[in-house]
Amino acid sequence: MKTAKAKLEEIFLDGSARITCPPELTPAPGQYLLVHADGSDASLAVSVFSSQPASQGGFRSAPPLPSVWRPGHSLTIRGPIGHGFSLPLAVRKVVLVAFDDTPARLQGLLSLALKQNAEVVVICDTQTEDLPEVVEVQPLKALVDTLRWADYAAVDVNRENLDRLKEMLAGQEQVTSKVEAQVLVRTPMPCGAQAECGVCALSLHHDWKMICKDGPVFGLGEL
Ligand code: FES
Repeated sequence: MKTAKAKLEEIFLDGSARITCPPELTPAPGQYLLVHADGSDASLAVSVFSSQPASQGGFRSAPPLPSVWRPGHSLTIRGPIGHGFSLPLAVRKVVLVAFDDTPARLQGLLSLALKQNAEVVVICDTQTEDLPEVVEVQPLKALVDTLRWADYAAVDVNRENLDRLKEMLAGQEQVTSKVEAQVLVRTPMPCGAQAECGVCALSLHHDWKMICKDGPVFGLGEL
């Protein structure tokens, strides 16, 4: 993990941004950076996930970013932090589940999956843009049926909605035990695994985990 300067180059209509930074700080899918905007009122650090690598170096961030950030802002970044997704090389049927948001944080996996000739289904109830035509899009109600087809699943869910996800999968052990599934649990992570502030705490099977350092990506079986 390193600290470096970066620059917010451009903000897009969907609230994502192009950020240039040293290549070794570009977060892999599921990992994040802790980012301060230098010299702005927004002094609180925020966690920033990548959506996809940028062709000019750096990466395109997943939205949203603080509304006071502007193109040209200098940023201080620390990272990459946390356990990200790991897409097994052998998988050929990939499902990306944006449980309660856009699929932006899963888009890095999308390009990796297509590169290894996998079929990809994106599940989400939000509008999807910028998805290649070969990608099939299904609504959230198709989750269990699509998991039945898949051999790998990546899910993006807010901590507040984790119980709802578990309810949808309750009684489907025959399906979930056959698919390798990883879950990105989103929550504010103000100290980024440094100060043990506890803001990101998650109770799992009578044990406390810190999403910022034990995650933010967990195996489905751990949840
Ligand atoms: S964000 Fe402070 S312990 Fe996780």
